[in-house]
Amino acid sequence: MAGSNIAIFASGTGSNFEVIAHADLDCNIALLVCDKPNAPVIQKAEKFGIETLVLEPKQFLTKAAYEEKVLFELKKRQVSWVFLAGYMRLIGNTLLSAYPKRIVNIHPSLLPDFPGKDAVKQAFDRRVETTGVTVHYVDLGMDTGPVIAQRSLDIEQEESLESLTERIHAIEHSLYPDVIRMLLEHEDSIEV
Ligand code: GRF
Repeated sequence: MAGSNIAIFASGTGSNFEVIAHADLDCNIALLVCDKPNAPVIQKAEKFGIETLVLEPKQFLTKAAYEEKVLFELKKRQVSWVFLAGYMRLIGNTLLSAYPKRIVNIHPSLLPDFPGKDAVKQAFDRRVETTGVTVHYVDLGMDTGPVIAQRSLDIEQEESLESLTERIHAIEHSLYPDVIRMLLEHEDSIEV
């Protein structure tokens, strides 16, 4: 297939990874980067025949050394975009400076509300009326980079956390491939 080479970084289940792999996108998923050797996303990548790099950051002396190794593997495959899909780690300067405005994350809340872990539960516990999903460029902070797209949903009366989580995932699974498609289509006009 023509199009850019992309990499996906994930640490867990990989439902977003799966929908991206299934989606009709003009790109090639050149690599899955995973920091957890037992993460279910690894088997999903195998199923799609997508190459996986499993690296444990604690085996490196520094975060920069870990990221240098990741960067080497990305460059080797001419990766031009990185999409985080449940990657539970902050991206450091080594990768950010190599990929300005080319590292994107999806987060299950309407940022800047509820950054960090368990965002769906944070919104649920706070009993907000509306929450949602954000896709944003990654910077050094936790879920703080410039927003690219958001989609909201109203929390229903008496709704359970399980139901809300499911509905948030459903939004993620339609929003993320759409945003990736849009970014790839406009990649030459994105100002860094
Ligand atoms: C998603 O909710 C995503 O927004 C967050 O981590 C979760 C990953 O889910 N960053 P999955 O592994 O893609 O199922």
